Amino acid sequence: MPKPRVLATRALFPEARKILDAACDVEYIATAERPSRADVLRRVKDKEALICLLTDKVNDELLRNAPKLRIVSNVAVGFDNIDVPACTKRGVVATNTPGVLDETTADFAWTLMMAVARRIGEGEALARSGKWTGWDLDQLVGADVWDKTLGVVGFGRIGRAMARRASGFQMKVLYTDAQRVAEDVEQALHAEFRDFDSLLAESDYVSVHVPLTPETQGMFSSPKFFRMKPTAFFINTSRGAVVDEAGLVAALEAGKIAGAGLDVYENEPFILPGLKRPNVVLAPHIASASLETRTKMACIAAENVTALFRGQRPPNMLNPEVLNGK
Ligand code: GLV
Repeated sequence: MPKPRVLATRALFPEARKILDAACDVEYIATAERPSRADVLRRVKDKEALICLLTDKVNDELLRNAPKLRIVSNVAVGFDNIDVPACTKRGVVATNTPGVLDETTADFAWTLMMAVARRIGEGEALARSGKWTGWDLDQLVGADVWDKTLGVVGFGRIGRAMARRASGFQMKVLYTDAQRVAEDVEQALHAEFRDFDSLLAESDYVSVHVPLTPETQGMFSSPKFFRMKPTAFFINTSRGAVVDEAGLVAALEAGKIAGAGLDVYENEPFILPGLKRPNVVLAPHIASASLETRTKMACIAAENVTALFRGQRPPNMLNPEVLNGK
């Protein structure tokens, strides 16, 4: 039996390649530059599986172009790059990598929060500049994190991991979500439910952990930022398009919020010049980028593919109905 043919749009990690290579005939795009769209479309034509990144758009154009495709395996938990209904319509399984990146992503949201509060970007630049003249009483004074109020928007796995870290900092934790979570979860995390607007008004740090969906797109509009305290900070490690970036810039310019820590942007890799300010800490979409976690993500993406070709249901199906009755 010939092995199923798979395209991986990047080289992946050795651990993931080991899983895949044992069961599949895999073409890895291991070029230094990321492949062009035309290159991906050309290479995927005869493949039965696609392992892709969140920078690869899986839409009707790609699916039409790859008639043998049986599975699209995203190496990410967010899957707004995949048109899941289009996959379902063509009987193509779509999968993601939930569960393994929650703690690492929450660590990074905290990194941004602490970095912007304590002005580490400015401090590091000064320390490296040769212009530092020594300790001074009011030099680079920032804001405390401990004892403040953290507002978590989106109380899924990552939002909860964010909240869990707050107890060591003696913070009050508020959260908002489409639905209130069970009382025992609230109690365990010492978290209180608020509607979105109340959370914005009460929090010193607002950290976003929602997926990008039609409902969440642009949910942080200019009026929402204007509801926040002028001393509050906005942290985003979810998806850039949940924010109206022009509105965020307007709020920063008007001093309606104190600063922001951003890992994600509306039109990556473009970063709006108005966001490049001293009171904004910018990162290049690396919240899940620890070697341990990225390796696990790649392995899960590989296992989703090999499970299907073993005749099993992939563990992380986004459209389980595709295999119903199969
Ligand atoms: C990263 O942004 C992910 O969705 O896994």
